[in-house]
Amino acid sequence: MNVSSEFSRHALEYGNYNIIQNMVIEKLLSHVAHKPKRILDIGCGSGALIKAIDWEYDYFCGIDFAQGMLDLHPKSPKIELLYADFNQDELFESMLTYKWDFIFSASALQWAYDLERVFHYIQKLDAPISLAIFTSNTFKTLNKTASISSILRSADEVKRLTQNCLDAQFEVVNYKLEFESTRDMFRYIKKSGVSGSRKVLSYKESKKLLEEYPLSYLEFEVVFIYSPSR
Ligand SMILES: C[S@@+](CC[C@H](N)C(=O)[O-])C[C@H]1O[C@@H](n2cnc3c(N)ncnc32)[C@H](O)[C@@H]1O
Repeated sequence: MNVSSEFSRHALEYGNYNIIQNMVIEKLLSHVAHKPKRILDIGCGSGALIKAIDWEYDYFCGIDFAQGMLDLHPKSPKIELLYADFNQDELFESMLTYKWDFIFSASALQWAYDLERVFHYIQKLDAPISLAIFTSNTFKTLNKTASISSILRSADEVKRLTQNCLDAQFEVVNYKLEFESTRDMFRYIKKSGVSGSRKVLSYKESKKLLEEYPLSYLEFEVVFIYSPSR
């Protein structure tokens, strides 16, 4: 497995809680060879991907099931936003009736209930892809310190599903994001919306974690799945 690392030192500017998601988007876009005209973004959120696209396109469709995020997404006559759940077959059945030049998904598909099914549909959409999915070594040391097990799939599991369903290359990237204090670190986790566990810690458990977390950085593990250049 191709594994690489990136380190972001003191990258936390005030109010910027999407550092890793933005690094992910930069990398996703680096796999785009020919400025696609008809673009699908699965789990588009508030539009970080469209904001980073710097070429002329004809049509962009963003899907998300959080209306609050869609409300913040850029709007234009070329942009269609669908309030929909990517766990629902009907959504993909409808997407199959369109022609796509490129499929993106940034930091969203870790929440797919049945990732294999979603991958099968993505393959059927028959367009080049660039997908990024958070995997279980995200917050590895933090989870270990708090005795929490990650609810995210492992990179190996996502690799197996990729090989089963997609004609795509696979890369694992480990990011480390350094903070000046553990308190800043926990604020980042709370605000960024990237979480590797559903467990809510009690006050006592949180205090213990704050005192015992041994690193000055947070760990993130992201798998990138992209079409071989055509
Ligand atoms: C971490 S955010 C990433 C947003 C955006 N792609 C970005 O990179 O900034 C994950 C997004 O996936 C959306 N999402 C999660 N599960 C979903 C589902 N089942 N169907 C549609 N959207 C979903 C969330 O609402 C959220 O906006």
